[in-house]
Amino acid sequence: MTTFAVTASLPGRAMEMLAGAGEIREVAGAGRLERGQLLALVEGVDVALTMLYDAIDDEFLEAAGTGLRGICNVAVGFDNVDLAACARRGVVVTNTPGVLDDATADLAFALILAARRRLGEGERLVRAGTPWAWGMGFMVGHDLRGGRLGIVGLGGIGARVAALGRAFGMEIAYCARHESPNAAGLEATRLDLDELLATADVVSLHTPLTPATHHLIGARELGLMKPTATLVNTARGAVVDEAALVEALREGRIAGAGLDVFEHEPDVHPGLLELENAVLVPHIGSATVETRAAMAELAARNAIAIARREPPPTPVPPPAVD
Ligand code: DGY
Repeated sequence: MTTFAVTASLPGRAMEMLAGAGEIREVAGAGRLERGQLLALVEGVDVALTMLYDAIDDEFLEAAGTGLRGICNVAVGFDNVDLAACARRGVVVTNTPGVLDDATADLAFALILAARRRLGEGERLVRAGTPWAWGMGFMVGHDLRGGRLGIVGLGGIGARVAALGRAFGMEIAYCARHESPNAAGLEATRLDLDELLATADVVSLHTPLTPATHHLIGARELGLMKPTATLVNTARGAVVDEAALVEALREGRIAGAGLDVFEHEPDVHPGLLELENAVLVPHIGSATVETRAAMAELAARNAIAIARREPPPTPVPPPAVD
């Protein structure tokens, strides 16, 4: 019988689906597993359903043993998985693309609105009981209509944010390694990254974290942005050099930022916490009841397919070998 390790209890029908296809191994009542608990949990299992914070590396794969056939990450991102180490052992890796596009795009857009219209700052002011009065210059932000929304990475989530931007009257530019079929219908202009940064009013990041995108946005790139522009990140924290971002926000070199992800989660750069022009939320892009259930169920379908030696619905391609 197949044994599935589940590193955190899953919502929706996922657990029921897995129970119908094999035996589930989990740590009852546990939240996030300590490394030792995680390694003990996966020993001898066939397929592991993992969270984006579980490091899937040589140590993990050694602990699981030679019977391990699949890693089903319950996330679209898979920067926590050493794909080469999995490929060396013939372990199939899957993720959960598509099902979280809307939820994550909605959150990105919420951050765009919050940062452009200073919602965090306004909320803090009212709650603190700070005296205030309506005034022509009081708490003014920036219009979305007529501005340029620059999307870095036009995958499913980026394309959805672009569509929301169009609905708000924004002009869309994007930067991607290839012409994207997702650009159809968006009337989007493809630019290189520097030109996009220099001309966009809002820059929204939707690129996976890879060695090539680590600190993609650093001091030089922030320096290219307009002083009235806003940076939004719902991708992965380390795509942005957080220390450089703090400096740029502090010195008013850009107007603001909306961040769902952080370079060293769950820690947040202390400089960000002091800044009024940063809207900060705790990695909740996919955090809706419906989306989390859909992610868990897709991961379960992947795991069951691997258990049955069938092609899983959403495999992550193994890395190219030189
Ligand atoms: C993912 O799936 O990679 C998201 O970051 C989860 O919110």
